[in-house]
Amino acid sequence: MSEPVIVGVDGSRAALAAVLWAADDAARRGCDLRLVHVEEPLVFGGQVYERSPDDPVRKEGERLLAEAAAVAADFRGNVHVSAELLYGHIVEILCAQAGEAAATVVGSRGLGGFAGLLLGSVGLGVAGHAVGPVIVVRGTPAVVQGELVAGLDPEDAVHPAIDYAFEEAQARGARLRIVHAWDLPSTSVVARIPPGLDFIAQARQGHVHDVLSPWLKRYPDVTVAESVFRGNPIAALCETSARADLVIVGSRGRGVIRSAMLGSVSHGVLQYASCPVAVVRPRRSSS
Ligand SMILES: Nc1ncnc2c1ncn2[C@@H]1O[C@H](COP(=O)(O)OP(=O)(O)O)[C@@H](O)[C@H]1O
Ligand SMILES: [Mg+2]
Repeated sequence: MSEPVIVGVDGSRAALAAVLWAADDAARRGCDLRLVHVEEPLVFGGQVYERSPDDPVRKEGERLLAEAAAVAADFRGNVHVSAELLYGHIVEILCAQAGEAAATVVGSRGLGGFAGLLLGSVGLGVAGHAVGPVIVVRGTPAVVQGELVAGLDPEDAVHPAIDYAFEEAQARGARLRIVHAWDLPSTSVVARIPPGLDFIAQARQGHVHDVLSPWLKRYPDVTVAESVFRGNPIAALCETSARADLVIVGSRGRGVIRSAMLGSVSHGVLQYASCPVAVVRPRRSSS
């Protein structure tokens, strides 16, 4: 049996949008959908209170799982749906589940948090730690665009996001736009000396194409566009996201402190993209 798609639910509208996304993904993959709701322990004065079977919070957890299961079944009736009510730390539990999931899906916001936030702590925590693809869903798109966007830094040593991007594009019959943005350091004088910017732009384009060539050979049916921009990668990816069904990025690149769990591009795209974002961390990482 293939691994399930897992989705975290908390009774919020954003989580229900995540359920729709996850049910659709499970239907395409032909795998099960597992709904997970986590209750954090009640701790007062250092003492942890056990929940009794008739605890109202437990009942509410069961109710919102049943509501989410009904939404999934209405949307994609051919998908087998299971629901789990678990106790513990939400991010830890979802990250543990991600180890045995085809994909882990959460909403960009939930029930709690500060109203103005673009991304809740669960989305940030799971995208920052879980292995495999983590999809953070913001709203339910009105139309299918037929295009996915993936960010590529050709200097990275591994490209789990590109693997996932080609798999998804193939499964959806969607076009795939590979976006690479580059710039000179702001204090640079390179622009004024030969060989100049055109040379750098062409070299970047060539490098992107070379790095992509194994995937272009492996997925001849996927229509690929290679967009190389001079500018900021977060801006390039977020602008392109307006016409995409999904933006896919790696969890971090070369440019971050090794202890950072998310690179600045992944972090920025999670906050500002207008469509769902997949952050893909390698399943076996040496870092
Ligand atoms: N208790 C929970 N159990 C399972 N998933 C959850 C839980 N709380 C939040 N999530 C998931 O994380 C998403 C983001 O919620 P969260 O980060 O808590 O945002 P907020 O800070 O707005 O509450 C939700 O849409 C849902 O998918
Ligand atoms: Mg919350």
